[in-house]
Amino acid sequence: MSEVRDGIIRDNKGIDFNKLHENTLNVLSADAQSEDFELIPVKDPRQTMEEMKSKYAIRFPKIGVGKTYLIKTYGCQMNEHDTEIMAGMLREMGYTPASGVDDADFILFNTCAVRENAEDKVFGEIGRLKPLKRKNPELILGLSGCMAQESAVREMVAKTYPYIDIVFGTHNIHQLPELLEQAKHSQETIFEVWEQAGEVVENLPKVREHGVRAWVNIQYGCNKYCTYCIVPYTRGRERSRLPEDVVAEVRELAKQGYKEITLLGQNVNDYGIDLKTVDFADLLRMVNEVEGIERIRFTTSNPWNFTDKLIETIAKCDKIAEHIHLPVQSGNNYVLRRMNRGYTREYYLELVGKIRQAIPDVSLTTDIIVGFPGETEEMFQDTLSLVREVRFDNAYTFIYSPRKGTPATRFRDQVPEEEAKDRLQRLMDTQYAISKEINMKMKDQVVEVLIEGESKTNPDVLQGRMRNNKLVLFQAPRDTVGKLANIRIMEPQTWLLKGELVEVLEEVGV
Ligand code: 5AD
Ligand code: SF4
Repeated sequence: MSEVRDGIIRDNKGIDFNKLHENTLNVLSADAQSEDFELIPVKDPRQTMEEMKSKYAIRFPKIGVGKTYLIKTYGCQMNEHDTEIMAGMLREMGYTPASGVDDADFILFNTCAVRENAEDKVFGEIGRLKPLKRKNPELILGLSGCMAQESAVREMVAKTYPYIDIVFGTHNIHQLPELLEQAKHSQETIFEVWEQAGEVVENLPKVREHGVRAWVNIQYGCNKYCTYCIVPYTRGRERSRLPEDVVAEVRELAKQGYKEITLLGQNVNDYGIDLKTVDFADLLRMVNEVEGIERIRFTTSNPWNFTDKLIETIAKCDKIAEHIHLPVQSGNNYVLRRMNRGYTREYYLELVGKIRQAIPDVSLTTDIIVGFPGETEEMFQDTLSLVREVRFDNAYTFIYSPRKGTPATRFRDQVPEEEAKDRLQRLMDTQYAISKEINMKMKDQVVEVLIEGESKTNPDVLQGRMRNNKLVLFQAPRDTVGKLANIRIMEPQTWLLKGELVEVLEEVGV
């Protein structure tokens, strides 16, 4: 059985992946009407990534020559990076990007299933494409990502949206070329969804968005089974990429001139648990050695297993940026337990204290859910007080959204929508005031910014980020993109800081 030490639920015989899942079931049977909850079998973690690496030789038939594609991406950075990989494969097949839905030969929805409103939006957009498909039967429509992993979504496609040509899951991305080839000859929707992760396919081509910052996957899937979350079911169990593959990709990116990399995983600080030879701190040190890279970021961390070694490594490695996204979800212990988060409020606050002591300039951001089943006003007040105590730089706040197949849907006492909306508003007001106060203190400071390119909202100015991930807008010549610069903060706001170029720093990197 698992035991609680230092407020964290740990396994007493080292890591056993099923224990986490078992804990979910304990929470369920203690607090909910405990009907049978289907256990998704967890594969033997001793199966190494080396064994799991694909033996596939991917073919890229040139069926896209003269054709265009459009990918609409929803959800997290993991999805955005999957889109870069799919765009890379399409490029290999001859496709070029379309300027809009009207001139696209292939439209793909790369979807998110974390909250219901994201799903509604996708179905709405697909519905609007029906006339286009009727006008141009050659148009290929696809649906990929987390929604495709849900059987209810696949049934819905078959029933209501049969004009979608291909539906493929998060484990089937590498099959896009063959699916497109099949779609040309098929009258019916082709479904290709593996329920569980199969091989990890290395070295797929990628089209990366811009030339300064790049994402690098280090880990896929999640074993945490938070009771509200669909990710363990849509992305499968945690699998770490081999460190040498990660480092090789980062070296290649440095060679191509990228200055900043973000290591991606659902729980990056669990990296390597399955490999048993390295942990996340070791990987960070290896990546920190890569010449040419100026900044290293990572997301998402989990408060669970955020070790002292990791804190020390972040503090010591010069390239690791001072920003940690550390989702807390709630400030109340009863809610945290029902969420199966595996830590307490006290543990979280202690962890924040340790991080701030070791990395004094660190910027902390978080995710918070309000209206989780059983959350009373008093419990919500604990979340507000935690937010005031920690003073996060920013928080992504959500109303709990029941996801079919997750344990929390079985909890009684769901919070009425109006109540949840009201809590969300109060939480946002509290956090925004704190974000603004923190930013206001930066007025007149000169900060180091990595210049990324044009601002997304105003093409007349450039944007860049401070090491702590805060967005800065300023005027500067275009040829400074990709360089580090000192910027004086003139006008701090809640979400961004407006500044003035002081000097471009020496040519960095390679
Ligand atoms: N309802 C609301 N928010 C959710 N998240 C995950 N699942 C749900 C859900 N069912 C939020 C969590 C997570 C972030 C990515 O999305 O806060 O950290
Ligand atoms: Fe979902 Fe994150 Fe919990 Fe995993 S750790 S189950 S991805 S909320």
